[in-house]
Amino acid sequence: TARPLVLGIESSCDETGVGVVAGTRLLANAVSSSMDEHVRFGGVIPEIASRAHLDAMLPTLRAALDAAGVGLADVDAIAVTSGPGLSGALMVGVSAAKALALATGKPLYAVNHLVAHVGVGLLDGEGGAGPAGTPEPPANHLPDNLGALLVSGGHTEILRVRSIASDVELLGATLDDAAGEAYDKVARILGLPYPGGPAIDAAAAWGDPRAFAFPRGLTAAKYLGSAEAPGAHRYDFSFSGLKTAVARVVEGFAARDETVPVADVAASFQEAVADVVTAKAVLACREHGITSLLLGGGVAANSRLRALTASRCAEAGIELTVPPLRLCTDNGAMVAALGAQLVAAGAAPSGLGFGADSSQP
Ligand code: KG4
Ligand code: ZN
Repeated sequence: TARPLVLGIESSCDETGVGVVAGTRLLANAVSSSMDEHVRFGGVIPEIASRAHLDAMLPTLRAALDAAGVGLADVDAIAVTSGPGLSGALMVGVSAAKALALATGKPLYAVNHLVAHVGVGLLDGEGGAGPAGTPEPPANHLPDNLGALLVSGGHTEILRVRSIASDVELLGATLDDAAGEAYDKVARILGLPYPGGPAIDAAAAWGDPRAFAFPRGLTAAKYLGSAEAPGAHRYDFSFSGLKTAVARVVEGFAARDETVPVADVAASFQEAVADVVTAKAVLACREHGITSLLLGGGVAANSRLRALTASRCAEAGIELTVPPLRLCTDNGAMVAALGAQLVAAGAAPSGLGFGADSSQP
């Protein structure tokens, strides 16, 4: 197999993920989710997530090593998400990774969850790269100047990546709810099940996206500014006003004893989210000379977001990469992929002194 062989551990939210990569080749991606246990609460409960990680960590590790056909002794390095995320959840992965590093003497790399979402885009497609046994470090498939639009239940960011190992810049982020969180809250308002993204996506298929003109957060001139003099929030997002606008519309129908047109509200809401995130991502790419954009996070499953990102990128001459969905949602392979990049770049291991950092920038 290609080198380095890296084991990656992810536990920042509700997914316990362990992945194995060899260079830029994906060997295994084992994921165990505690989502079923959170459904009745309508959101991820940190304490439940932490306990579920404890239960799932060793079986998931075993499943990943078995699927990859490797043992711990074969691994060149271990990588683990150290943040951002839920602290108790992160601690389970960090503790497991430290224990494995201590027991095996392998170098340990603490990685940033968001950068790992980008790192997964460096894995080769199914089938893998190059002949087996290739000794070279992973080819860096990254263009010099890559953009990333990350949209999930926990994050909504635009990143600029000049070097995945050493130069990642945050261009914009949400000031309040994450995009997926907005989907989940609006689904609740509409009486749709949790998690709300898939339910709204399905309901919207029958709706009119122009039925309601919902607000596009932080798109007023005072926030945007101009290309020459960017406003303070040119690339930032806000979804709380949108959520409130949906609630007002739904309350209005209820007050008049009328049936809520769920499909139209869902379609109009979905249009507002997709419009603002794709418009800002394309704007950021244009203004930073970025010609390659990666779309990641669980909300990348959204049909309208995918279609609009594809058409707007095509118009703007931006090459779009959307990893397969199982690699867009939280997983261990993305952590392993970033770990392999760090090893190849000669980055120093993190040692055992770091902790879980829930608000890691
Ligand atoms: O990345 P992810 O699995 O977990 C984290 O939050 O990190 O993302 C989950 C989020 C949830 O908020 C869910 O409602 C949303 O992704 N989601 C979707 C769709 N599928 C999942 N949002 C919109 N449309 C979808 N089809
Ligand atoms: Zn994530």
